[in-house]
Amino acid sequence: MTVTTGAGATAGTGRPAPAPANPSVTMTGSGEPEQCVELTDAGRPSAGRGKVVVEVEAAGVSYAEVQMLQHLHPFPPRFPFVPGYDLVGRITEVGEGVTGWRAGDRVAAMPRYGAWQRHVEVPAKVLAPVPDGLDAAEAVSLVTNGVTAWQMVHRLSGARPGDTVLVHGASGGVGTLLTQIAVHHGLRVIGTASPAKHDAVRALGAEPLDYRTPDFPSAVRALAPEGVAAVFDHIGGKGLDDGWAVLAPGGTLVSFDSSVAGYEPGQWFRPHVPALRRTLTHALARLFGRTGGRRMRMYYVKPGKDFDADLGAMYELLARGVLRPEIAGRLPLGESAAALRALLDGRAVGKYVLVP
Ligand SMILES: NC(=O)c1ccc[n+]([C@@H]2O[C@H](COP(=O)([O-])OP(=O)(O)OC[C@H]3O[C@@H](n4cnc5c(N)ncnc54)[C@H](OP(=O)(O)O)[C@@H]3O)[C@@H](O)[C@H]2O)c1
Repeated sequence: MTVTTGAGATAGTGRPAPAPANPSVTMTGSGEPEQCVELTDAGRPSAGRGKVVVEVEAAGVSYAEVQMLQHLHPFPPRFPFVPGYDLVGRITEVGEGVTGWRAGDRVAAMPRYGAWQRHVEVPAKVLAPVPDGLDAAEAVSLVTNGVTAWQMVHRLSGARPGDTVLVHGASGGVGTLLTQIAVHHGLRVIGTASPAKHDAVRALGAEPLDYRTPDFPSAVRALAPEGVAAVFDHIGGKGLDDGWAVLAPGGTLVSFDSSVAGYEPGQWFRPHVPALRRTLTHALARLFGRTGGRRMRMYYVKPGKDFDADLGAMYELLARGVLRPEIAGRLPLGESAAALRALLDGRAVGKYVLVP
């Protein structure tokens, strides 16, 4: 990782360089994290109309940033930009026209990029309250990943206590929470992961299964002969047909990304075509009563009233110790490239969090 400002000596004087006003991470282009992620100084922002400035306590590292680095994320900002999908922190400045928020309030936000810096300007309309006393890293892990997991289980899947569901990537940032939320809802979970992470998946209350198992549908049927009530899939591609094949009558296949490998930087739309095509085909077949009540739904997390309500519900469960977010590591901003590398190499269990 390159450090471009705020480190070393001021040229020619031998004196230490002044501390950066606002340490921040910049993604300079598409490529390897070690070459394309820099620690810089973005300068202190001030709050514009309808916005607040938040001093960040913790910012999440997610697969979205890996996809942005590979130029495979839908609607990415132009390089260079400050990444960082979500954050938890305290408001330090309130802009004109903002009501309902004051300096000192503890908040969560999902600005989608910009969170990997110490001070960040955020639209007030995307803020949600965070109770004092919650650990900042655990609280931020529930923002994007938690709400995604919660809404897919409770608002999309239709799965009821006693049902069996299939969670892909049960060892990941979303998957560890999805598994905990499903187990708490009374669901039996079959959770896919690479074999090295099966103990971690078991510890969450799921039955692990290697997603590379040959004849994957038969392996699922061996565990759930009647089929599963829901499948949660973030890989997409042809694997969606396996998910559809293991659904019980009336079951739901939830597709929440298409991170299937094999696409070139910039081809961000193409991985999603198989999921879109299957969603439309299954919807049409369902209209004519030809799916046995099975359906396929695509999911994309967005801020709003449901987001705030669901995040609040999870913060209550976090305070009661029901949800225990898996924190893969708490790193300073200067180690964001290492966190991205760990995600790229599949070494993380749970979520990496940056602590500015
Ligand atoms: N739709 C939305 O609104 C939304 C919101 C948040 C996240 N997402 C998406 O959700 C996905 C997961 O995000 P994350 O931050 O949790 O990523 P992550 O922490 O990197 O987790 C990815 C997981 O995928 C697993 N995996 C790798 N190859 C797989 C395969 N072929 N089949 C099944 N699982 C496989 C990995 O397991 P091993 O490490 O054991 O190999 C790992 O557990 C990303 O694609 C992200 O973009 C979507």
